[in-house]
Amino acid sequence: MSETRKTVLTGDRPTGPLHLGHYTGSLASRVELQHEHHTYLLIADLQALTDNAERPEIVSHAVWEILLDNLSVGLDPECVTFVLQSGVPELAELTQLYLNLVTLARLQRNPTVKEEMREKGFGANVPAGFLCYPVSQAADITGFEANLVPVGEDQVPVVEQTREIIRRFNSLYGETLVMPEAMTPDIGARLPGTDGRAKMSASLGNAINLSDPPEVVREKVMGMYTDPTRTRATDPGHVEGNPVFAYLDAFDSDRGRVEEMKARYRAGRIGDVAVKRHLAEVLGSFLAPIRERRLSYEARPEEVRGILAEGTARGRRVVADVLRKALAAVGLPAVSDGRRLSTLEVW
Ligand code: TRP
Repeated sequence: MSETRKTVLTGDRPTGPLHLGHYTGSLASRVELQHEHHTYLLIADLQALTDNAERPEIVSHAVWEILLDNLSVGLDPECVTFVLQSGVPELAELTQLYLNLVTLARLQRNPTVKEEMREKGFGANVPAGFLCYPVSQAADITGFEANLVPVGEDQVPVVEQTREIIRRFNSLYGETLVMPEAMTPDIGARLPGTDGRAKMSASLGNAINLSDPPEVVREKVMGMYTDPTRTRATDPGHVEGNPVFAYLDAFDSDRGRVEEMKARYRAGRIGDVAVKRHLAEVLGSFLAPIRERRLSYEARPEEVRGILAEGTARGRRVVADVLRKALAAVGLPAVSDGRRLSTLEVW
């Protein structure tokens, strides 16, 4: 392994299918990074359960979907280790160690958690597990000794909290945990919803999923929000804040053509329907190879299950090693479960 090769950890909460916003926000960079660095993809089912305890079937079903989504965009199981969080109980043990290194006040101040709590309307009735998910994420990140954590803008405070936990751990118990860095996508990569709201999200009902069939994609595109000030095709249109153009910026590789369309739109020389038809075509050809790969994996379910099982076993060995180091650093007499440590080895 060369010096510049880093360990990358990305994670998804399995709560539903991945959409175009996930693609621009994170999947695209995963696909790129996989060849340069050692990459783990964590399917964080325990984290997804922190706000879905009453609906665990949502999570278990989505594990499969997320796995297929990631494979279908081109993550190569030869390069990427796919890990199921619940298959690595050592992560829960690390979480427990870290819970003592954060305060309730700090958890409540985490901007990401605050925003999500507001969206979900939790108030004081937030499940404790949800409030503490950044701590379990710190276990994920440190458990794989990740150097780089590609995340969307909204997850940066969670990585910051991980860094704080690491600083505290290392200063109390000695240099043990590896310090990661968040890696965010290029500015402008955040994709608005089809309704023009700032964020594409399943819960807002404004998402185009990677697994949507072509006719559904077309229908969603033709129903997109555009420029509300424009009533006829001959009115000058607004390109800024218009999600149709945001999508063209993200997915149409023919830059010249996009710029020309923008100019015509601004001048009132092209209608919404024509621009949408073009976008439907662009998205259609972007999604076609993704759909094809997905179909081919769907036809081999045993192999797909094997990718996750084998990756989880491999990931578990890595995390078990870190847990052993962490327990030793704290000075706890780790009790052997016969797998990872001989009894009282640290004494
Ligand atoms: N919280 C992340 C999200 O909602 C998912 C996640 C879980 C994650 N564990 C992780 C991301 C570790 C990066 C690293 O998208």
